[in-house]
Amino acid sequence: MEISVKRGHAHEQKTACLVVGVHAGKRLGATAEALDKATRGLVSRLVKRGDLGGAPNETLLLPEAPGTAAERILLVGCGRPEALKPADYLSLVQKAARTIAEAGLKNAVSCLAEIPVRDRDAGWKIRQTCLAFGASAYRFERMKSKPSKRPHFARLGVLVGLDDSTEAQHAVNTAKGMLAGLSLMKDLANLPGNHCPPAQLAETARELGKTYRSLKVTVLERADMHKLGMGALLAVAQGSAQPPKLITLEYRGCPDESRPIVLVGKGVTFDSGGISIKPGANMDEMKFDMTGAASVLGVMKAVAELALPINVVGVVPTVENMPDGHAIKPGDVVTSLSGQTIEILNTDAEGRLILCDALSYAARFEPDVVIDIATLTGACVVALGSHASGLLSNHDALADELLAAGEKSGDRAWRLPLWDDYQKQLDSPFADMANVGGREAGTITAACFLSRYTKDYRWAHLDIAGTAWTSGKAKGSTGRPLPLLMEFILGRANLA
Ligand code: BES
Ligand code: MN
Ligand code: ZN
Repeated sequence: MEISVKRGHAHEQKTACLVVGVHAGKRLGATAEALDKATRGLVSRLVKRGDLGGAPNETLLLPEAPGTAAERILLVGCGRPEALKPADYLSLVQKAARTIAEAGLKNAVSCLAEIPVRDRDAGWKIRQTCLAFGASAYRFERMKSKPSKRPHFARLGVLVGLDDSTEAQHAVNTAKGMLAGLSLMKDLANLPGNHCPPAQLAETARELGKTYRSLKVTVLERADMHKLGMGALLAVAQGSAQPPKLITLEYRGCPDESRPIVLVGKGVTFDSGGISIKPGANMDEMKFDMTGAASVLGVMKAVAELALPINVVGVVPTVENMPDGHAIKPGDVVTSLSGQTIEILNTDAEGRLILCDALSYAARFEPDVVIDIATLTGACVVALGSHASGLLSNHDALADELLAAGEKSGDRAWRLPLWDDYQKQLDSPFADMANVGGREAGTITAACFLSRYTKDYRWAHLDIAGTAWTSGKAKGSTGRPLPLLMEFILGRANLA
């Protein structure tokens, strides 16, 4: 999708559709009133007649736009003429973008950046508009034998006032970088397991390393990991015909030696459960069990594309979790890279096994903070549904910073406690710990397990089991939590 900043009058914009906010009440809003004049009172007549109530999210697509250079107008209700809540603005731009994509239009000019939003500047509104249109333009058709004939939304114009010009261009550039990362992330997550084994993630990382000179990519093979002593990660991989990989991407955007943000993404390219095999229903969705990994690759791409002045390292442990004659069995004990031993009571709790070794490995980058991202527990879906990712951390300030980034980006997280009280659920009579902690508080005990490998640095864990993808007819990657992570990184680079 192309995006450009537009200046001038709304009615002079040549476009398939002009997207305009309309407030309920006497004052329609600046652009709506100007368009009302250009269209000889059409907009106000429709509002008076009740065709557009003006409640937030209501839309009305006018198939003609007399008196303007546009072919159509999409009127978007913005509620009473007072500043919108940020969440309402987000759902309104998303609705507008969806309406335009569903109408099969190929381009549009949005005037929605003028709508006042509480505590948010023009840059935020423009960025969110670009992201919403980008999301509705995204398609995954690579696995179809023929491309669909549906017209594809391809060009967005963002109309801004003169005062906002430089800020607008900056916001558009940021959104473009994020959309490049999002598109890579969603493609990887949506790819079926047979087309995206660990080797494919490694290959994708290597390609990123070729495209961006600022990225240094290394891939550890099974033998390398064996030498290092990554017994937990290798244990998960041993039941699969697909060899495991440990990918690292080092981005140095800061000339000084400032400590990097390290992102660790769970990359289980398919999670059958292993010998503790999962029930059949919806098992296909376990191809999304590498969304944490995909988000790390997407963020690294966005950061490199935007050439951000900050140091970031991505670490991606990636395996396939399968049952076969070589697979780990309940009761097996393995030794992790940290030296701690683990009794594997359930082979379906594999994410923490690959993450614990990757988290120990992360220490060598002398991180400022480490954030791991994982579709880790079904319990998190039960606790928070699909609205918020779970957040657990050993550092309050880091947790607050991530929560704020979630709020600001609309990609929210909610913190759960990591109290020592829960640790004893992991006691094992045979090893230093068990890999599961029983039915109660499954998301917390999973994080408790990880906390035993992250004692030497500030660490946060994002459980994205409920937010990473949608099920049903519109099944697919949501792109979360890339917006949260990018907001966090942009904030740290003083560019938010
Ligand atoms: N990848 C799953 C978690 C998951 C389940 C994510 C459903 C999204 C939707 C993870 O590897 C897993 O199987 N976790 C187990 C842990 C249990 C055995 C302690 C779970 O949540 O059931
Ligand atoms: Mn599992
Ligand atoms: Zn899993």
